[in-house]
Amino acid sequence: MKIVLLGYMGSGKSTIAKDLARRMESTAIDLDDYITNNEKMSVSELFSQKGEIYFRKKETVYLKELLLKQENLVIAVGGGTPCYGDNIREILNGSRSFYLKASIKTLAGRLEKEKQSRPLITGLPDEALEEFIAKHLFERRNFYEQANHIVSIEGKTAENIVEEIRDLIQVSDCF
Ligand code: S3P
Repeated sequence: MKIVLLGYMGSGKSTIAKDLARRMESTAIDLDDYITNNEKMSVSELFSQKGEIYFRKKETVYLKELLLKQENLVIAVGGGTPCYGDNIREILNGSRSFYLKASIKTLAGRLEKEKQSRPLITGLPDEALEEFIAKHLFERRNFYEQANHIVSIEGKTAENIVEEIRDLIQVSDCF
């Protein structure tokens, strides 16, 4: 089985993917890391040296590659992955998907400290972050909300979130 975690930057996809994979004796893969390893460049370098369009093309290629692998995987995709090309369709056809939903305040609080590794927000002043996220989420939510399950992360520990996802998988396995 493939499990895909999607959601905005800073929603905890990579951390939850690792914890969930450990709990399910599966393997976690972060799509950004997979792209970085294959392209031998960081996401920031890819954006600055090759451009966002190149990054988005590669993102689609590597997403498809991961979804076609034989093994069980928990895949944390990038915040933009479901919103480009036919990626959301590929995710819906090839996996059980979970949208890790967070409030604008929570995301802004987390992303303030992590702007450097994220080219879309690197140059943004802290005071502009909330408005940027609000607009961006408005554009992207239609894609995120197509996930099989929506899991709010507000006020929950990583352990709570992992258990909630496991319960949702078990319940849907009964049908
Ligand atoms: C992006 C999110 C990033 C990364 C790239 C673009 C986006 O992934 O793929 O910087 O468009 O939201 P994370 O969501 O893992 O930070």
